[in-house]
Amino acid sequence: MTNEKQSPVRLGIAGLGTVGVGVIRIVEQNAGLLAARSGRPIRITAVSARDRSRDRGVDVSGLTWHDNAVDLAADETVDAVVELMGGSDGPAYALAKASLSAGKPFITANKALVATHGKELAELAEVNNVALRFEAAVAGGIPIIKSLSEGLSANNISEVHGILNGTCNYILTRMEREKMAFDDVLNEAQKIGYAEADPTFDIDGIDTAHKTAILAALAFGIVPDIENLPTEGIRNIVPVDIEYARELGYRIKLLGIAKKAGDAVEVRVHPAMVPLSSPLAGVMDATNAVTITGDHVGPTGYEGAGAGQGPTASAVVADVVDIARGVWYPPFGIPAEDLSVPEQPGAESHVGTYYIRLKVADVPGVMADITRTLARENVSIDSMLQRGHAEDGGVYIVLITHETTEEAAIAALNHFNALECVLESPAMLRIEAA
Ligand code: HSE
Repeated sequence: MTNEKQSPVRLGIAGLGTVGVGVIRIVEQNAGLLAARSGRPIRITAVSARDRSRDRGVDVSGLTWHDNAVDLAADETVDAVVELMGGSDGPAYALAKASLSAGKPFITANKALVATHGKELAELAEVNNVALRFEAAVAGGIPIIKSLSEGLSANNISEVHGILNGTCNYILTRMEREKMAFDDVLNEAQKIGYAEADPTFDIDGIDTAHKTAILAALAFGIVPDIENLPTEGIRNIVPVDIEYARELGYRIKLLGIAKKAGDAVEVRVHPAMVPLSSPLAGVMDATNAVTITGDHVGPTGYEGAGAGQGPTASAVVADVVDIARGVWYPPFGIPAEDLSVPEQPGAESHVGTYYIRLKVADVPGVMADITRTLARENVSIDSMLQRGHAEDGGVYIVLITHETTEEAAIAALNHFNALECVLESPAMLRIEAA
């Protein structure tokens, strides 16, 4: 079936950072295997990157070099374009449009691009009957896009939960294991080059939101919509909540969540307490994991490296193999024009259980004030703990609610703030049965 005489797929790569170099390495090292699996050889013919002279540890001397990445789309020696530059707009967006308009398959690891312009780019791909693939954009080496698009395509999906950001999961893991504060772990992670110099996208949940918007689009046939996705990161997580969570049988994780709720689809990103017995609770360090529930398959789980050279390049090259094989389907599984804009229930209407931590003065009547405040909002208590003296003489009261609306939980929190016995702003975390 396979021989070198079959025409190769010739790749143009935009961006020669860690992942770009990883793609070159895989294409070189696994050339025979890739040709056998693709039915055609895979070659790299052209590249675009900022610095021509940098030693990247791979030989790029025989490749055509384009200073302007968008020129890859018009390069006659390029059959398919691989974009590894990043950024939702600018050159990445221009290159995507130019490649798809030129009828060239476009493969990207760029979650911001797909989450922001996914529908438009999918339409362009479909009009031009050309592939738009983005396996590497979500959860790095885990084939989660393929699982949703292909392996689970027989199912109505009811929910998707993901730990989609390795940096945040690493920080939360260190905070728990070393009992360190968030800022200290972050500083340390930046010093060893683990976290980005500007870690905002990671720790504020934006990276997770991009990935969640893409998973939600694939799972529910909806337009990826980053603008209306409620997003909260991990900056406000403190060690004491990690400790109480553990005592109560939970672990704190930053989750991307997409869930069917009647005709609506709830899509949100926030830290949540998950039961220690749940699959996502055991996912530590920089590992990513996703659980997907389908109506016929039931719950399924996926775990692996969400970032790094090998895992991300592995996902990119898998997309290339599909293109070489001639695999094509609409980028979001259904025609882009059929992607719907579902009702997005406000986060406040979310019904769930909540963890609330209050620092209060240790004086008579405090418990009565707390229970009265909750009763006022019809919030019922499932369990409650009072723990030790804080340095300033206050004590912590920690409670878990029964199911209630987020609106009621927030209203109770606001009333707590007004109580004289409450010494600092209460903390609240959602509990998810992920
Ligand atoms: N910065 C991401 C993470 C990897 O920490 O998981 C790329 O999406």
